[in-house]
Amino acid sequence: MKQKNLVLTFVFAIAVLPLFASNPSDKTLSTKAVELVFPELPYAYNALEPTIDAKTMEIHYSKHHKAYYNNFLAAIKETPAANLDLKSIFAEISKQPAVVRNNGGGYYNHNLFWENMTAAKTAPSASLKAAIEKDFGSFDKFKEEFSGAAKKQFGSGWAWLVLGKDGKLFVSSTPNQDNPLMDVVEKKGTPLLALDVWEHAYYLKYQNLRADYVDNFWNIVNWDVVSKRFEKK
Ligand SMILES: [Fe+2]
Repeated sequence: MKQKNLVLTFVFAIAVLPLFASNPSDKTLSTKAVELVFPELPYAYNALEPTIDAKTMEIHYSKHHKAYYNNFLAAIKETPAANLDLKSIFAEISKQPAVVRNNGGGYYNHNLFWENMTAAKTAPSASLKAAIEKDFGSFDKFKEEFSGAAKKQFGSGWAWLVLGKDGKLFVSSTPNQDNPLMDVVEKKGTPLLALDVWEHAYYLKYQNLRADYVDNFWNIVNWDVVSKRFEKK
């Protein structure tokens, strides 16, 4: 009997504990700006094909994302904000010049984005699924709202699933490299799911068909990561 309990405890730990482990991007927010590192891509360039082609992934990560990182560190290193963590910088981003806002956002948003995609089949945790159904009416209605925000964002920007301070989930979009942690954004909260809708994210494969890119994104969402971000709230 004891042995059976031990086995059950072990199985429970394997199944549930990963939900409480933090995602690498969580640490990024509490790290001093000058100590931030350029993260490893969590998979190979071709891992998300056919949804995202290898060439797009390579250019996006090694050129665009790297440039945001380099430019952010260069812009901030001689300023008082160099010793602030990223979360504090975002919370008062209105006091920073555009170069810090654009590149700091670009650095962090892409960290979230890489992390919330995977080739593996995943599903939202029971509590995230219940919260989505409660706050959007149904999972399909949430997907519809998120896809709509991504498709309708005029020009470059991002679509988000966000956990508001009131504990309710909402969908939003932001222009350029803004994100829901920034004080300049109308609807603030903790970002749970990020989708990059800049043309550099999809143009090589999809050309002008952003809607197809957005629809296919659902095939590669890493719900394990999104659920962890939610459970951590
Ligand atoms: Fe991007």
